[in-house]
Amino acid sequence: MVCLGNICRSPMAEGVLRHKIALSGKDAIIDSAGTSNYHIGQSPDHRAVLNMKKNGINISNLKARQLKKSDLDHFDMIYVMDRMNLKNTLALADTAIQMNKVKLILDELGAGIEREVPDPYFGGDEGFQQVFEMLDQACDKIIARIDG
Ligand code: 4NP
Repeated sequence: MVCLGNICRSPMAEGVLRHKIALSGKDAIIDSAGTSNYHIGQSPDHRAVLNMKKNGINISNLKARQLKKSDLDHFDMIYVMDRMNLKNTLALADTAIQMNKVKLILDELGAGIEREVPDPYFGGDEGFQQVFEMLDQACDKIIARIDG
C-alpha cells in the first residue's frame, strides 16, 4: 500500500487489509510505504489512528518508511492511492514485471468510479472516514483475489 507520506492513507489501507486477511483465514504479507521521505519513522497521523480505532482496527504501532526499489521485487502487488503516487512508484520500476504489479487501488472497484483516494492530510475528520470507506470496499475485492 503506497501513498505520499505513509502516515494517512497507506497505513489505513495496510490496517484494513491486515484485518480482513486475519478474518478470512488467508495468509499474506502486507506492508505500506510512502513515496516521499517526509515522515520516515513517524507513527500514523493521530486522525488516521482515531478513525481506524472507531472502525475497530488498531494501526498505532505502524511506522512510516519510504518506498524502495526492492519493494517492487518483494511484493506481488503494489497498490497506490493516487496518480502522483502511481507516477512516482512507476519511476522506481526497471522491468515490465515490476511495472505490471503497480495499480491504483480504486481500480479494484471497477469502471465508472473515482480513481483516486483523496489526500485527507489537510482536511477534517470526515475526510478520514471517506478514505476508510473507499479502502474498505477496495480491500474486499483484493481479498477475494488472494488465493491463500
Ligand atoms: P498520506 O498523507 O500521503 O496519505 O500519508 C499525507 C501526509 C503528509 C503530507 C501529505 C499527505 N505532507 O505533505 O506532509
